[in-house]
Amino acid sequence: MASGLSAALVFFSALGLAASWPSPSALISRTARVLNFFPIPVSEECIATDGRRSGTCLNTYDCRIQNGESSGPCALGFGVCCVFAVSCGSMVENNITYLVNPGFPSLMNGKMECKIKIKKMAPDVTQFRLDFIHFNMGQPNRKTGACDSDVFKVTGGSSRDINLCGQNSGQHMYFDVENIKDAVTITMNLTQDIYRIWEIKVSQIEFNSRAPAGCNQYYHGTKGVIQTMNYAINGRHLADQDYSICIRQEEKMCSIAYEPCDDNSFKIGPPIISNDDNGSGGGPVFGAQGTPLGQGSPSQSCSDRVVMPCDTEDFITPVGSAGLCDLLHCGNTFCSSSDGPCRIESSIKPFNIRVQFGPSAGEENPEDNIGMCLRYEQQACT
Ligand SMILES: *[C@@H]1O[C@H](CO)[C@@H](O)[C@H](O)[C@H]1NC(C)=O
Ligand SMILES: *[C@@H]1O[C@H](CO)[C@@H](O)[C@H](O)[C@H]1NC(C)=O
Ligand SMILES: *[C@@H]1O[C@H](CO)[C@@H](O)[C@H](O)[C@H]1NC(C)=O
Repeated sequence: MASGLSAALVFFSALGLAASWPSPSALISRTARVLNFFPIPVSEECIATDGRRSGTCLNTYDCRIQNGESSGPCALGFGVCCVFAVSCGSMVENNITYLVNPGFPSLMNGKMECKIKIKKMAPDVTQFRLDFIHFNMGQPNRKTGACDSDVFKVTGGSSRDINLCGQNSGQHMYFDVENIKDAVTITMNLTQDIYRIWEIKVSQIEFNSRAPAGCNQYYHGTKGVIQTMNYAINGRHLADQDYSICIRQEEKMCSIAYEPCDDNSFKIGPPIISNDDNGSGGGPVFGAQGTPLGQGSPSQSCSDRVVMPCDTEDFITPVGSAGLCDLLHCGNTFCSSSDGPCRIESSIKPFNIRVQFGPSAGEENPEDNIGMCLRYEQQACT
């Protein structure tokens, strides 16, 4: 703690209190007293003693009056890492707050309606970021994809409401709150007798560090994995989704390549039947919902689809053949005209993917509607 002590000396000198230092024990009592009067640590993010959660570095008093929990020292011992965790029926006015199920870290079961309100802590907060550390709730209707037993809703923002259910641990969502006056409401309507757990970190994002406009998910890094919501074993993609997944273009990177995570990781509707397969060509084509179209690519008629700007579709075959690519993707293969593994490259910026899943229409085979898992990798400029 040599550096801590010298920082303390500098600090007290600045306050004109350090004319002479009697003894270490006097230093400790002086520190304790001074802390109650000077709000020193400047609300920086800190790591709690569990090494897992984040908190805000505050003085002990501020942490206590804001109902936080002190979790270890920060700012060289001048503050405490103050962790905020709340459950149903709360109003959140802090940065970095964990929303947890009643009884967390145990599972909760039974039916309930849980509401939490979140207020902007400062006028320049333009987004809330929700990190789903644990998100295990009831599955959607297997046939329609509608969240009709458990539903997690975020309403009252300046963008489209969020409407989720199922398994979404590890996912995140940005929610626009730019021009709102009232609090945002999170409602969990849980209508089944099943076990669930959730732990959701909510951060308040200022204008200058926000995700680009329209990006509900925003990934950093030259490579990573993206998944649609409720991408899970025995999962099914959710109905009624319309959001953008954005990937930050990293330095010296000019394009991006996408590949399915495995052979089964692109299932957005049944196979697309085009009558090119029939050998006639030029007649009507059919999309995933079976709607005939006069012209264009079969995927244009899919009510559940992924929109992805691209330059080439590259089938990973021994020979390898690059073809023109389709902006819209649906059906049971990632590339529009091949069964095998393939990859799609794009140099169109920004690197964005739009997920558009229509309202639950008819009943569909869940195996055809698992959703999408893609690996992405940015490609260096040549
Ligand atoms: C909230 O915390 C995040 C993460 O530390 C930080 O980037 C952001 O600026 C904070 N927001 C406000 C309004 O202080
Ligand atoms: C909660 O779900 C039940 C059953 O689906 C429904 O009757 C009720 O209206 C829902 N409540 C809210 C507030 O959405
Ligand atoms: C394929 O051709 C047959 C016979 O002409 C026709 O009945 C069928 O509808 C066609 N299938 C598609 C998907 O166009």
